[in-house]
Amino acid sequence: MIERGQGMNETEFGPAGDSDLGGFQIENFSESERQAVYRAIYERRDIRHFRSEPIPDDVLARIIQAAHHGPSVGFMQPWDFILIKDLDVRRQVKELFHKERQAASCFFEEPRRSQYLSFKLEGILESPVNVCVTCDPTRAGEVLGRNSIPETDVYSTCCAIQNLWLAARCEGIGVGWVSILNPLQLHQILGVPAHILPVAYLCLGYPTQFYEQPMLEKAGWRERLPVDPLIHLDGWSGQSGSGWDNFLEEIGNTAQGETES
Ligand SMILES: Cc1cc2nc3c(=O)[nH]c(=O)nc-3n(C[C@H](O)[C@H](O)[C@H](O)COP(=O)(O)O)c2cc1C
Repeated sequence: MIERGQGMNETEFGPAGDSDLGGFQIENFSESERQAVYRAIYERRDIRHFRSEPIPDDVLARIIQAAHHGPSVGFMQPWDFILIKDLDVRRQVKELFHKERQAASCFFEEPRRSQYLSFKLEGILESPVNVCVTCDPTRAGEVLGRNSIPETDVYSTCCAIQNLWLAARCEGIGVGWVSILNPLQLHQILGVPAHILPVAYLCLGYPTQFYEQPMLEKAGWRERLPVDPLIHLDGWSGQSGSGWDNFLEEIGNTAQGETES
């Protein structure tokens, strides 16, 4: 086990002697804590069916704080959170959704087209709060670590969104991501400055249920892929290798949701 401070040296973390940065004790989560984290991961769902009761402010505040504690390239924290309750604003966004959904339907052949159009793919008006999470590429000037891959600012924003999604699940709040929206028109409706990118438009509220499976899986649109063929060992073409046999056996035995150690 790596001890706190181990491996830190002058060049990495500043003057020698500063290597103890303080922090949490390095110890495993208790069994119930470990199970709770996996439960949040496996029971998180994209939600489109909401009950009407409001989200208490303290709950919403915890969820937004959790998002704000996501990782970000160079610690740039490029996100902003536009919280929307106003019905008129939400009606305008819903109108955008209607138009885009219709436009996107032409990309599918029948019978997929009719199936696509039959899906409920948003809960903009039913959910009590909508949250637009944006990315400001100019947030931190010269960003440590972003030179090679400029998109890392958007990746960072997505990390915040996933934190939000999991924290919401712990609070019994459902989140639905609506991406069937014209980004330029969304900019206008929300008055977002031109240089800022809306990354996610999310619907938040108490769900009628947390579906057992992704809705698209239940509807037969697409199945969850087995993870085994997605794993490459020591390079893209590697299927097996020394030191991986036991892992391969374990991953084959581990069904979704199994968290036993
Ligand atoms: C970037 C992104 C965009 C998405 N856009 C939509 C959307 O516009 N409408 C919708 O109903 N679901 C949307 N989803 C939800 C996915 O359909 C959902 O995550 C996937 O089917 C798996 O289901 P689960 O999230 O319940 O596990 C989006 C998810 C992501 C990550």
